Amino acid sequence: MILSKRFVFDTNKNMCMNFMILMVMVSWFWLIPATSSSSLPQQQENQKLRFDQNGEFKILQVADMHYADGKNTLCLDVLPSQNASCTDLNTTAFIQRMILAEKPNLIVFTGDNIFGFDSSDSAKSMDAAFAPAIASNIPWVAVLGNHDQEGSLSREGVMKYIVGMKNTLSKLNPPEVHIIDGFGNYNLEVGGVQGTVFENKSVLNLYFLDSGDYSKVPAIFGYDWIKPSQQLWFERMSAKLRKAYIKGPVPQKEAAPGLAYFHIPLPEYASFDSSNFTGVKMEPDGISSASVNSGFFTTLVEAGDVKAVFTGHDHLNDFCGKLMDIQLCYAGGFGYHAYGKAGWSRRARVVVASLEKTDKGSWGDVKSIKSWKRLDDQHLTGIDGEVLWSKSFRDYEMLDLKAQIVLKPEEKNRTTIAHKFMNWEEKFCQGNHGKNQIGGN
Ligand SMILES: *[C@@H]1O[C@H](CO)[C@@H](O)[C@H](O)[C@H]1NC(C)=O
Ligand SMILES: *[C@@H]1O[C@H](CO)[C@@H](O)[C@H](O)[C@H]1NC(C)=O
Ligand SMILES: *[C@@H]1O[C@H](CO)[C@@H](O)[C@H](O)[C@H]1NC(C)=O
Ligand SMILES: *[C@@H]1O[C@H](CO)[C@@H](O)[C@H](O)[C@H]1NC(C)=O
Repeated sequence: MILSKRFVFDTNKNMCMNFMILMVMVSWFWLIPATSSSSLPQQQENQKLRFDQNGEFKILQVADMHYADGKNTLCLDVLPSQNASCTDLNTTAFIQRMILAEKPNLIVFTGDNIFGFDSSDSAKSMDAAFAPAIASNIPWVAVLGNHDQEGSLSREGVMKYIVGMKNTLSKLNPPEVHIIDGFGNYNLEVGGVQGTVFENKSVLNLYFLDSGDYSKVPAIFGYDWIKPSQQLWFERMSAKLRKAYIKGPVPQKEAAPGLAYFHIPLPEYASFDSSNFTGVKMEPDGISSASVNSGFFTTLVEAGDVKAVFTGHDHLNDFCGKLMDIQLCYAGGFGYHAYGKAGWSRRARVVVASLEKTDKGSWGDVKSIKSWKRLDDQHLTGIDGEVLWSKSFRDYEMLDLKAQIVLKPEEKNRTTIAHKFMNWEEKFCQGNHGKNQIGGN
């Protein structure tokens, strides 16, 4: 993709070009603002998440901080010239800069938040690791990775500690379920804009799961997997949310889109190569998922509401690829005490969901979900901007399919399809030129 790699932000104001594909991938990208330091959003009322008055909800994903003992913990895999001056405090500085640059509505830590082995006190490491999020007053959540429990606290202990921290919306486990594997399986609802008909509805659903650490089954080697008990909880929660969304007020035909966050990638992450993902796959071992497939991807496809999955774990993979209408994304390694690649910047992923502007000038349901990453370099360079999901994608894909099948000799059909195509494009362009500018608040 032409502009999808290292993108220099310019302010070309007229990029609604006619070539739709290019536009979908690129047009909104110039709207990513340069870093600024205006004030952070107020803490959400009652900690209830909702879209802001600009019709946007933005999530910052921080994967694999591997935090240990702060200034006494040195960095891994940095350039020799950076080696002497680099510690966990560089990870802290990176989060602070990311929060100021993006002013997210929610910060999600997707595991290996601390590196237990090198931490002298897990609680202290967590205090330091999450301090920038807490200080920002932005709601934040965390799930567990495979290294969080390797210090002075068990997995349950770590998750319980997180749940008790300030400003977090993390939960230990769903209260309605008596038996579930792991710690830190929960969901959050994101309400529509206050004062609109969607104000009491969850228009975006967030699911968080504990993908475990290592297999406890002797016959199965390697990493853990998402267990049937967790999948059952997900299925029921997803069905319940779908039902609520379809009911009044403002009944909807389909489910509200969902996003799922956890640590260890699903085996299906191995379905891509550079021809069909955006980002890089540099891990020597490829994809470090469990050695068995517990079927969570199938469960997600069946439920149908989750449009994108976000994991960490493989620090040198940072791509998103789409399989069966679900985006499978990595964030790329964030922390300096985590292995990485010298000269290849630590990074974070940002996701923004944007609402549709209604005819009456109010805000409707979710129109699109976009993502990009920022590198920890001097300018927090934004890269790999893409539309992960759009309400119109389905229309477009149907048209595309029809175009392939029908669009051979029949001039009449060609015109009709071209016409629909243009309408679609027009709509999309308007959306991008209106208030839905990324970070435009
Ligand atoms: C970086 O510094 C640490 C501590 O001074 C040292 O142990 C390590 O070998 C150095 N690594 C490199 C690549 O220079
Ligand atoms: C880590 O932070 C120090 C102090 O601000 C800075 O001099 C150094 O360049 C940073 N290292 C990296 C790899 O960013
Ligand atoms: C949302 O709930 C509040 C409090 O119950 C109520 O006052 C308000 O009218 C509701 N809004 C809509 C659009 O139903
Ligand atoms: C990506 O492309 C490769 C061939 O380059 C193909 O084998 C693979 O099935 C594709 N994956 C998806 C999800 O389309």
